[in-house]
Amino acid sequence: MATAHRASAATRTSAGMTGSAPALMTVEHATKLYKTETGSVHALDDLSLSVAKGEFIAIVGPSGCGKSTLLWAMSGLHDLTSGRVMLNGTPVTEPRSEIGMIFQDANLLPWRNLRQNILFPFEIKKINPAPFEPRIQDLLRQVGLAGFEKKMPRELSGGMQQRASIVRCLSYDPDVILMDEPFGALDAFTRDEMNLLIQRLWMETGKTIIFVTHNVSEAIFLADRVVVLTPRPGRMAHIFPIDLPRPRTIDMTYEPGFVQLTMEIKRTIETGVYVPADTPV
Ligand SMILES: Nc1ncnc2c1ncn2[C@@H]1O[C@H](COP(=O)(O)OP(=O)(O)OP(=O)(O)O)[C@@H](O)[C@H]1O
Ligand SMILES: [Mg+2]
Repeated sequence: MATAHRASAATRTSAGMTGSAPALMTVEHATKLYKTETGSVHALDDLSLSVAKGEFIAIVGPSGCGKSTLLWAMSGLHDLTSGRVMLNGTPVTEPRSEIGMIFQDANLLPWRNLRQNILFPFEIKKINPAPFEPRIQDLLRQVGLAGFEKKMPRELSGGMQQRASIVRCLSYDPDVILMDEPFGALDAFTRDEMNLLIQRLWMETGKTIIFVTHNVSEAIFLADRVVVLTPRPGRMAHIFPIDLPRPRTIDMTYEPGFVQLTMEIKRTIETGVYVPADTPV
């Protein structure tokens, strides 16, 4: 598999696919109940997942099944009712510098220009940005935002804002990047561009990415494994290994094998159980 993949990325991919590599991050029996005025909402139920270093995991599932809940727990921003998240052998109980998060809304601070937005996490984490300056400049160049540093968020398109939030996240060099429907608000063409960008950055940086999306084609395009959750409370429905060479192209998403896989995953999302595509309904 992954014959066209760069050597380091191929190692990462096969490690993730076989599950033989030691896990970088694990979710262990995660259960979450939200207490509300009208009763409790059971969002996640006994969900376990192991993510290898350098792996690209996509998480899909019906709306409201607990995908964001899972991601927030992995970020350390929200706690679980029971179960735990481990990173590098220690429990994740609060935000950590090894973890970065990118949201659907680019979440740029409207009163700060692009550069000031990128420097914001350094201020929060009390890190001196000076040693990271070449990295920031390189990232800005890679995502096509060099020269836009003084622009305010309102002067940037939706795609540019999301690219800025990617630079902001990658600039302080987290090992794990959690992405919650980062491209959901973008038009299809810009989304394709962003997927190619994320693929390239992932292949070049060796980051571990956990990516929530509603878009099954996007999930297959990007991931080593696509994790499907059941309707709420979110449990593991099925994990699909994606055995496609890299770098992947947008054209590949129209090939028969890709389309068949898309159908299988969609049916799994609908039914909560794995049903091979050639099984009659
Ligand atoms: N802070 C909260 N308080 C109470 N209930 C919540 C809270 N956050 C989420 N929920 C509920 O938990 C369930 C799971 O929500 P979550 O946002 O994790 O789903 P999701 O899979 O990300 O959905 P979507 O695909 O629509 O983004 C939903 O029923 C939601 O209403
Ligand atoms: Mg969500």
